[in-house]
Amino acid sequence: MCGIVGALSQRNVVPILLQGLQRLEYRGYDSAGLVVVDEKQLKRARSTGRVADLTQKSSDIKGQLGIAHTRWATHGVPSERNAHPHLSSDSIAVVHNGIIENYEELRAHLKSVGYVFTSDTDTEVIAHLVHSHYKKGGTLLSATQAALGELVGAYAIGVIAIDNPQQLICARKGSPLLLGVGNQENFIASDMSALLAVTKNVVYLEEGDVAEINLDNYRVFDVKGKPVVRDVHVSELSNDSVELGEYRHYMLKEIFEQPQALANTLESVCNSQSLIPGLFGAEAAATFEQINSVLILACGTSHNSGLVARNWLEEISGIPCAVEIASEYRYRTSVANPNTLIVTISQSGETADTLAALNHAKAIGHPHTLAICNVAESAIIRQSKLRFLTRAGPEIGVASTKAFTTQLAALFLLTLVLAKQRGRLNAQQEKEHLQELRHLPIAVQAVLKLEPEIKKLAEKFVNKQHALFLGRGLHYPIALEGALKLKEISYIHAEAYPAGELKHGPLALVDKEMPVIAVAPNDTLLEKLKSNLQEVRARGGELYVFADANTRIQSSEGVHVMQMPEHAGFLSPILHTIPLQLLAYYVALEKGTDVDKPRNLAKSVTVE
Ligand code: M6R
Repeated sequence: MCGIVGALSQRNVVPILLQGLQRLEYRGYDSAGLVVVDEKQLKRARSTGRVADLTQKSSDIKGQLGIAHTRWATHGVPSERNAHPHLSSDSIAVVHNGIIENYEELRAHLKSVGYVFTSDTDTEVIAHLVHSHYKKGGTLLSATQAALGELVGAYAIGVIAIDNPQQLICARKGSPLLLGVGNQENFIASDMSALLAVTKNVVYLEEGDVAEINLDNYRVFDVKGKPVVRDVHVSELSNDSVELGEYRHYMLKEIFEQPQALANTLESVCNSQSLIPGLFGAEAAATFEQINSVLILACGTSHNSGLVARNWLEEISGIPCAVEIASEYRYRTSVANPNTLIVTISQSGETADTLAALNHAKAIGHPHTLAICNVAESAIIRQSKLRFLTRAGPEIGVASTKAFTTQLAALFLLTLVLAKQRGRLNAQQEKEHLQELRHLPIAVQAVLKLEPEIKKLAEKFVNKQHALFLGRGLHYPIALEGALKLKEISYIHAEAYPAGELKHGPLALVDKEMPVIAVAPNDTLLEKLKSNLQEVRARGGELYVFADANTRIQSSEGVHVMQMPEHAGFLSPILHTIPLQLLAYYVALEKGTDVDKPRNLAKSVTVE
């Protein structure tokens, strides 16, 4: 969490920092701040408002070297005094993303030698530590390296000093950070979207790297302090892909980008006549031969996509599959099976819990790892043996939408590849599935046409406090995803249940104030689901049913049916997700919440 941007140039960097922060607000938006070196002073502005407010507060500030930060609070409430950058002795400034685990003992020590703390953050210890080393002599680089040697935890940091107006030091361990390489100017940022207006040349720092950035050059040192050369990449991100364009919110834009995102994700497959393991990496064919089960590790929405995949993998490929919440997996004692394929799923590829789960899985004896991820240079991709890149494009709204449906597409491909390799998919079936996948973007486009109807429906939810989502089988995870979307952005308490489970408890909640949203595909469980819906109706529950054609579920008193297209077979969960995303969006819009930046959350959860 938290976003960092820094710049060193011959021009005023304040507009660059502010624009960068705006692009990084998705990472956290409790408060924001920046500091520049100007006329031998550190000039700082901080705000508990959004970047727009910081822009006003910094209107008098100019400088050619600066660092900036947008915060998702971990230590200390969101307040101006806790906002970054943090200073030491008015001469060192630091921005930080991550958590310093030993900050309490460091703080006690620094206090005992005279440092005065002005915030409740863990970050402030870094500023004082750097200062304590810097004042002994040496360079800002060596002082920062010495300070880092005392830290336990995760960090991406930017450091500047008042007496060094032409140098910026940065480092990363456990949190993302990259260098943007310009012409006679250089930058740092948590992700590339922050720098697209100034450069496309990027150097991805590796774990433990420290970099010294000057106007016309930079030097990178590895975890042991040895100078290293890191490749310069040209970012493929376009400025347009991170702009809102005609849309009011990123979430809506991203919902409507799904046909294209799916087409891009499936491009390599749809243009070919057959499915090959190579889609998942050069070593996939050999790896897939060795595995006898799959374990999926992920969080939030990505976990929900894993739950759908479990059904596909077991039914189509005949491979036992388990799905675990990443933050729980690493803290329980589990039995390693070296022939299990560990699949991590993550939009950002930086989610600390998922990354830690991946490393735990490797440490306890799982050599086969596959990452399904939307960010090519992310930690999860780099730390996995096999990989599949979803090509959803940057997802900026905190509520994950196009990342989810493209993850499902990737997981369906994995299912088919494994099924084929195990002789469970004949040529005709393979051809039919490929045809369904080619048709998927068009099918999603058709579902998006429900938008006006769903917009009207959303009005009925504005005054509700609770909502219940029901699904069965392959669509239970879609109910979970619908509930997650609704609670996350509209703040309505929402729960999801497999419909057959209602009578075992949650039915007690049902009355006329409890809207019940049902995912009703025309599949083998339809008749069972219908009986479950009768149970709700009999208790006065108001039903909102997203029903495939030919389900013969009719609107009637207390039953509102939204007609979906034909049943899409195994790919139906992808189609049924779309109306639930739209419903959450329009309910949130009606309620006037901050759709793209819901309270207390951040897009990229890079702390435990
Ligand atoms: O980047 P990741 O996919 O690893 O993120 C996992 C979750 O934090 C994320 O899906 C979260 O649940 C979304 N905000 C839900 O919309």
